[in-house]
Amino acid sequence: MKICVIPGDGIGPEIIAQALRVMDILKQDGLKFETEHALLGGCAVDATGVPYPEATQKIARAADAVLFGAIGGPKWDNLPRNQRPERGLLGIRKDLNLFANLRPAMLYPELANASTLKPEVVSGLDIMIVRELTGDIYFGEPRGITVEDGKRVGRNTMIYNEDEIRRIGHVAFQAARKRNKKVCSIDKMNVLETTQLWRDIMIEISAEYPDVELSHMLVDNAAMQLVRNPKQFDVMVTGNIFGDILSDEASMLTGSIGMLPSASLDENNKGLYEPIHGSAPDIAGKNLANPLATILSAAMMLRYTFNKEAEATRIENAVKKVLADGYRTGDIYEEGTKKVSCSEMGDAVVAAM
Ligand code: NAI
Ligand code: MG
Repeated sequence: MKICVIPGDGIGPEIIAQALRVMDILKQDGLKFETEHALLGGCAVDATGVPYPEATQKIARAADAVLFGAIGGPKWDNLPRNQRPERGLLGIRKDLNLFANLRPAMLYPELANASTLKPEVVSGLDIMIVRELTGDIYFGEPRGITVEDGKRVGRNTMIYNEDEIRRIGHVAFQAARKRNKKVCSIDKMNVLETTQLWRDIMIEISAEYPDVELSHMLVDNAAMQLVRNPKQFDVMVTGNIFGDILSDEASMLTGSIGMLPSASLDENNKGLYEPIHGSAPDIAGKNLANPLATILSAAMMLRYTFNKEAEATRIENAVKKVLADGYRTGDIYEEGTKKVSCSEMGDAVVAAM
């Protein structure tokens, strides 16, 4: 097990340090893995002039998984587009062919008040959005703004071929097998032919998963159902643009950006694992960040790339225990709980392990 570790910018190094402490507990207990650190984003621009340096490419390609903190910050905001830190992240995703984005949204009962929705709507929420990342209207040709008959015309093309749909479908069905065995495929087949093909392919491959229940929903209804009754879902699978919007909507159901991990996978379950939040420049360097999203990203890495279900569950249970014991970083603090720093939250998780 080879892990490329990329702390990145802002709070990245602080939260990654806590995730590595948790991984070290597993190592002490016999789990064998190697780590190698690499630069990405703003710190890479400072050190090498580019956001995704060759040395990082080498390490990331040779690894089985990448554990990543966050990148970006005001320091680099005025750089030209192709030198900006974000280019580093887009670059590594494309380079490693990470086409499947897995974003769980789950609510810990202790944090029920963090959500803007009523506790009965979100309590016990545990859903997974599987978003296709490398196709759809974001990449389809032709595209651009042209002048036709004296008028400016904007154009993008929604396009998926059956292989692209099939491979993301398999990721969703396999994820459902590790969960509650339900897949809801999201499309707009009443209007868009591309998504009619999407639905047809999902139905085709569902034959290979008789143990998983497949349903379909139009995207506009899905957006409503996510806030009306999100607990009806287990795994939701959808294309790039619908998934972009629905995954952000779903992550906010729980109200705690510092709690949610994510995975981006290739065809062999090699993956990049990161918290959904950014580099939080406003609290960087102050030991205030919530490291739990990153610690839970390490758990996802153990589950999806390394098939270490017991170790993944052990980390997740430790996180549940520290929340039950009342430990809170500032972002999830409420009266009557114990306010802790980033490293103290790490201490608590390590102790719970
Ligand atoms: P952000 O997610 O960094 O921060 C939004 C708010 O949430 C801030 O108030 C921040 O303090 C808070 N927050 C975020 N993570 C937290 C944590 N773990 N614990 C406690 N509080 C936390 O988003 P923002 O402010 O829009 O972007 C800041 C920088 O991050 C920008 O340069 C942006 O480009 C970059 N970014 C990077 C991402 C990545 O590396 N994947 C994703 C999103 C933004
Ligand atoms: Mg988005």
